[in-house]
Amino acid sequence: MGPQAIKNGMEDDPTLMSGGNYIKEGLDSAKSTCLFFSPASQDECGVLASALELFKQNKVNLIHIESRSSARIPGAYEFMVECAPGGNLGAVVDNLKKSSEYFSIISRNHKNNKGTVPWFPHRIRELDRFANQILSYGSELDADHPGFTDPVYRARRKYFADLAYNYKHGEQLPRVDYTAEETDTWGKVFRQLVDLYPTHACKEFNHVFPLLIENCGYREDNIPQLEDISNFLKDSTGFTLRPVAGLLSSRDFLAGLAFRVFHSTQYIRHPSMPLYTPEPDVCHELLGHVPLFADPVFAQFSQEIGLASLGAPDDYVEKLATCYWFTVEFGLCRQDGQVKAFGAGLLSSFGELKYCLSDKPELRPFDPPKTALQAYPITEYQPIYYVAESFDDAKEKMIKYAQTIPRDFGVRYNPYTQSVEILDSKPQIQELFNELSHDINFLSDVVQKIGM
Ligand SMILES: [Fe+2]
Repeated sequence: MGPQAIKNGMEDDPTLMSGGNYIKEGLDSAKSTCLFFSPASQDECGVLASALELFKQNKVNLIHIESRSSARIPGAYEFMVECAPGGNLGAVVDNLKKSSEYFSIISRNHKNNKGTVPWFPHRIRELDRFANQILSYGSELDADHPGFTDPVYRARRKYFADLAYNYKHGEQLPRVDYTAEETDTWGKVFRQLVDLYPTHACKEFNHVFPLLIENCGYREDNIPQLEDISNFLKDSTGFTLRPVAGLLSSRDFLAGLAFRVFHSTQYIRHPSMPLYTPEPDVCHELLGHVPLFADPVFAQFSQEIGLASLGAPDDYVEKLATCYWFTVEFGLCRQDGQVKAFGAGLLSSFGELKYCLSDKPELRPFDPPKTALQAYPITEYQPIYYVAESFDDAKEKMIKYAQTIPRDFGVRYNPYTQSVEILDSKPQIQELFNELSHDINFLSDVVQKIGM
């Protein structure tokens, strides 16, 4: 549930659109700073102790310390120290820089510390650290929300927000007993949309949808469980779902995609208006988003947007979020001479799914440098859609665009450790080069074996 994923126009009757703008800018509640350093004098005893003394002298509290072999300096080791806000961190940084062979600083408070890289998670379990740094809690409803005056609905929303709030990486996703009323709302949305999918959705979507019916309980009389879907996606592409208690910043939401994690809501819209929702709900996530995360190329495309966002400057994160909006949320693609929908905002809205393939909106080719700058309304159907030639083509264009983001390092996802590696030194590049040479050798061996 990211701000870009939240739109007041997911409804089917434009006259029902409400005012509230769900895109909110908030301050991160945790402003911790991570220092990565490799001491120059590695052979001295107590080198970590003397570094830690520096923090004590300058009254900087430490939240977490890690040591590991350095990937950058052969035979050396490296420390990661996470510091709480407060104390004289500047003095610590100046001192450590002088005595370190390698030094890097990553901070959530990057706006006030020039030269620092915006913080991002390095390991999948670090998604826990921002999962609850939400900009608004899922049970807080605007005055024009259909459930605003309904105490039963509000209590239910709090139940879902609390479930997500207490979730930690690695746990089973909470199973929910949906009420008959909730299932009925789901059924109304489900029935209408499945009629349109064969003619309006892209072929990848229509390939996966029957598998979700078969494996994950997609039926009009059953709201599928996140845990079953997450397991299915994991087997298909390595994508997983995690519940989210409220609105995440663009930076945090996109960072999840770098780990092939999609933050999903679990509640359903208010029963009084089954074809309207002012924010994403299970209908939007499960019908709109989930099917395509089971497609390998689409999954990779989504991950590329996520990887590009890690440590990127704020203005580029917003550009990437706009690319996300015009693809993952509202993307169209060309298939066999016809235009089809693949964006989740379209595939979960009966009205906009019909509208987007009519002659009313303007269609433009997906071109990240231009698409990233396009303004868009969030309270009505989109006047402009971008059309991808294919998922492969969109992915290649995103990779090229990502190369224009000003970053002094490369990032690479390691699926074995479910972590992101920062590439910023010669030994790492050499190591990567060796791995790729091994893969090329393997490839040429297989080519010979099958006689290509
Ligand atoms: Fe969405």
